[in-house]
Amino acid sequence: MNRTASSPVAARLADLVAVLDTLGAVPADEAAHRAGEALAPVIADVEWLPDVYRRVPPGHEEAVYLLQAPADRSWCVLAVVWKGEAATPVHDHVVWGASGQLIGRLVEVRYQRIAGDEQRVRSHSAVLHQPGDVSTVVPPFDVHRVSNPDAETAVAIQVFGRDLSVVTRHAFDLERGITVVRETVYDGRV
Ligand SMILES: [Fe+2]
Repeated sequence: MNRTASSPVAARLADLVAVLDTLGAVPADEAAHRAGEALAPVIADVEWLPDVYRRVPPGHEEAVYLLQAPADRSWCVLAVVWKGEAATPVHDHVVWGASGQLIGRLVEVRYQRIAGDEQRVRSHSAVLHQPGDVSTVVPPFDVHRVSNPDAETAVAIQVFGRDLSVVTRHAFDLERGITVVRETVYDGRV
């Protein structure tokens, strides 16, 4: 990846990327906190994100665009887009992450793992994210379901402590009490 790109996206992410490059040996909870702090200025306004990264392809509920990742895949910056009233399954992240709400609103229901049963979780709280809000996930507290309560598209800028395309994650089938592998395939990249 061209780390010296001078596009508006790369320029906007430069300070965040500088922080992410320092987090390799930092404990996960501290890394998520620092990444969240560095994410806040990125989502202070929306003009820098091109329209092409604010869309969901026809027939899809959600889109994930890779905005930046280093060659060693030790982190990634994503634009994640939810169609109006779209919802994810309950899923985990395996690595630490931070999410900044850029456009629209999202409801996040958090789940906690049930001791002794890796296949099962139970809901324990819900949060409404509005533009400018930043939240984090840190394993084992990394399981949630995210939905768009509104008719308009919602966009979050998200950072993870590994390129998600090389992380094996899981979705939880709550009724059957099982998990299925959830691969991350990017819809596009800068
Ligand atoms: Fe998530």
